Amino acid sequence: MEYQAKELFAKHDVPVTLGVVAETPEEAAAGASSLGGAVVVKAQVKAGGRGKAGGVKLAKDSDEARQHAEAILGMQIKGLTVNRVLIAPAATIEEEYYFSFLLDRSNRTYLCIASIAGGVEIEEVAKTDPDAVKQIPIDAGTGVDEAKAREIVDTAGFPAVLTDQAVDLVQKLWNVFVQEDATLVEVNPLARLEGDVLEALDGKVSLDDNAEFRHEDHLTYEDKAAADPLEAKAKAKGLNYVKLDGEVGIIGNGAGLVMSTLDVVAYAGERYSGVKPANFLDIGGGASAQVMADGLDVILGDEQVRSVFVNVFGGITSCDAVASGIVGALELLGDEASKPLVVRLDGNNVEEGRRILSEANHPLVTLAETMDGAADRAAELAVK
Ligand SMILES: Nc1ncnc2c1ncn2[C@@H]1O[C@H](COP(=O)(O)OP(=O)(O)OP(=O)(O)O)[C@@H](O)[C@H]1O
Ligand SMILES: [Mg+2]
Repeated sequence: MEYQAKELFAKHDVPVTLGVVAETPEEAAAGASSLGGAVVVKAQVKAGGRGKAGGVKLAKDSDEARQHAEAILGMQIKGLTVNRVLIAPAATIEEEYYFSFLLDRSNRTYLCIASIAGGVEIEEVAKTDPDAVKQIPIDAGTGVDEAKAREIVDTAGFPAVLTDQAVDLVQKLWNVFVQEDATLVEVNPLARLEGDVLEALDGKVSLDDNAEFRHEDHLTYEDKAAADPLEAKAKAKGLNYVKLDGEVGIIGNGAGLVMSTLDVVAYAGERYSGVKPANFLDIGGGASAQVMADGLDVILGDEQVRSVFVNVFGGITSCDAVASGIVGALELLGDEASKPLVVRLDGNNVEEGRRILSEANHPLVTLAETMDGAADRAAELAVK
């Protein structure tokens, strides 16, 4: 969110004004009085186009700030509920520029996008006047030193009076990008304020989850309220889970197998009133009873799920270990396991795995010989 991005900017000496975060109209009014004078009240959600949605409003005093906060808090912007507003001093803006660093996956490089025609219409400018939006590739090996920063500033066409400030600011934004392990650092508007001062009036930063281990402080940026509760639960248990909107729960080992399982279930579902996979869940290598129980627990917590397809190919983890995992998981879950399970095992030690499941003879479990057969049965069981 903007206020968090601005905290990161401040940490790397990018010129910003932090302002005050408020969760109620009263806090907003108090924040406005503490700042004094006119302020802007800005919706804090992880989406662009807040201004256009009515989520950014100018207030001349604390009373007006309270009124705007009342209107903005609780508002929906692109499906996200506004739970916080940022109160920032109203700046006197002379020009608005656009600036970003991002990971350009298709060209396997980093990219700077900059335009002196910034502001809330930047997407429109990019369509109608693409030449006004400059794209400057950045070599990952050399990054952005002073010379590169100067090249960026010249290419973008910043006014001469701002050149030195811009060169300095661009290097600091690059520090944010590299040192915080970001995949996007965006400033729109990067504003020219009266007196020819450059300041980041807005900020958007995407952080790379893969680098979480070296940034404990980033955990506080996670928006728990906006996350899907089942995805949050799965994440807490270290599971690779993505919620989808169908009826057949899926558990598999290995991302490739799980992807194929989604396909065969969707295909089988066409014969059974269009039922679809309810999730992606890769339990990875060691499918212990605990991992299986965690996976089942998450999937059975999804009210839309009507049946579950467990599709495991025994490799390093043998089928008998997986079968014991399933039996153990059903014991652990007890009455909470209430939906039919179709299990297909193949690969290493499959005979023993099937024997374990047949012997356990759990009323909810159906053993299937083939992947297609299992998908068909799971889809059939998911029909209302
Ligand atoms: N502190 C401020 N003082 C005065 N005006 C401001 C301030 N902050 C933002 N604005 C104005 O409001 C506009 C929208 O604000 P901001 O860019 O923060 O929201 P936004 O809608 O998220 O924009 P986008 O989604 O396009 O990045 C800015 O372009 C600027 O004109
Ligand atoms: Mg903006």
